[in-house]
Amino acid sequence: MAGPKDSLGFVIRFNYNETVMNAPTETSSLVRQHLIDPEICIRCNTCEEMCPIDAITHDGRNYVIKFEICNWCNDCMGPCPTGAIDNSRTVASGQPYSLEDQYSWDSLPAPTNPEIAATELPEDVTRITEIAQSGQGGPSSPPWSAAHPYVNLFAPNKPVTATLTGNFRITGEDASADIRHIVLDFGHTTFPVLEGQSIGIIPPGTDANGKPHTMRLYSVASPRNGERPGYNNLSLTVKRVTEDHEGKATKGICSNYLCDLEKGAQVQVCGPYGSTFLMPNHPGSSIMMICTGTGSAPMRAMTERRRRRMALKEGGELFLFFGARAANELPYFGPLMKLPKELIDINFAFSRVPNQPKQYVQDKIRERHEDVVRMLKDENCYIYICGLKGMERGVDEAFRDICRMHGEDWEKLLPVLRSQSRYHVETY
Ligand code: FAD
Ligand code: A2P
Repeated sequence: MAGPKDSLGFVIRFNYNETVMNAPTETSSLVRQHLIDPEICIRCNTCEEMCPIDAITHDGRNYVIKFEICNWCNDCMGPCPTGAIDNSRTVASGQPYSLEDQYSWDSLPAPTNPEIAATELPEDVTRITEIAQSGQGGPSSPPWSAAHPYVNLFAPNKPVTATLTGNFRITGEDASADIRHIVLDFGHTTFPVLEGQSIGIIPPGTDANGKPHTMRLYSVASPRNGERPGYNNLSLTVKRVTEDHEGKATKGICSNYLCDLEKGAQVQVCGPYGSTFLMPNHPGSSIMMICTGTGSAPMRAMTERRRRRMALKEGGELFLFFGARAANELPYFGPLMKLPKELIDINFAFSRVPNQPKQYVQDKIRERHEDVVRMLKDENCYIYICGLKGMERGVDEAFRDICRMHGEDWEKLLPVLRSQSRYHVETY
């Protein structure tokens, strides 16, 4: 089955989840080729000496890697004094750069296009992110004024060790959900993140087949300058999974691992990930945030970023629609109540308060239709939806109804929002 073609005419096949994406489930026909950057290499011969399988050779000009022999054992990586060895390109299977190509280079060829570069992310991340962004959001691009994100600095097989410095329950003691605010400190290791990005956590141990557990993604809940400004730390909002999506009792591996950790514990982290669900930075830009449960994590990060910069009077509105069963089940309820009214307009939707009608975020969105349509039409307003997958449809219907009510056409407006990088969805 043919997939989309990149600029070189290669067929790109991703591992889409068929039930979600209704798209081909074929494995990638692209492969990663290990290469040496001739611009940085000082021709010291270390890599050639270190390679246990003679995959590296040279001529009078360049050191090069034999694609057919290299098995990515990485024995050459650490000893290389310049990092020239730590390079690769994704190429069509069966069409790697030849030794002659590599001997002729003064610099590495540019990655051919963003789709090819994206396949260099760990397969797990690509798969999970595609599912999380498969709804109305779809593949997207970041707001034009978003800061440049660092992505994929630590691979799952080379994670960074962070230290847990905080683990606080942020739902009421009597709440059914145990949601925790978890703080990780990176010591002297650079781990830059932006609001809206996620990190990978690798739980220790192995699965039923004896394979190491795969990493799970968690949205960063703190702003770019740290949970505590100026500290090299970040926070997460983690819900202890005690039942599966069908309500059957289960003990989620990674969420229980994180929620049970004590101060001082060492945690294996990979990432950061995510290059589109990022906040706008230009003065006057507004943000509409719609979330349930732990979908509040990126919203907390963005709100806190704006709160810390309030004195700069950069303007722009913050609108939050936040759904939970009741106030005690809502993470960060107390801190949210303390936020200045001039910073953020908060709209809670509670679904299980005795003697009160069930309300979902989409009901609150409808109630605020005049502000919502104004913001949908405002080219400086960016919309973020995060949390339960199920809410996407309801939110979409609410936007459609509101548009109809105000003489707008949601079917026409949504593509405009998407093309202006103003509509971002991450649901799981
Ligand atoms: P597993 O052992 O993987 O699964 C146990 C069972 O529970 C399985 O049957 C599984 O289908 C089901 N299950 C998995 N996740 C859930 C869930 N959320 N609710 C109910 N049942 C579930 N989680 C957070 O807590 N905070 C975040 O900020 C956060 N951000 C995410 C960002 C992205 C982009 C994505 C894709 C996911 C995010 N998640 C977040 C979900 C997180 O990655 C894990 O899926 C979740 O913690 C469950 O992992 P687990 O190892 O505990 O459960
Ligand atoms: P409900 O009471 O019907 O479960 P959770 O506590 O499971 O994380 O859910 C957070 C909130 O999201 C709850 O209020 C829940 O309501 C609500 N919710 C559940 N399904 C949807 C949906 N399809 N659209 C919007 N909100 C939803």
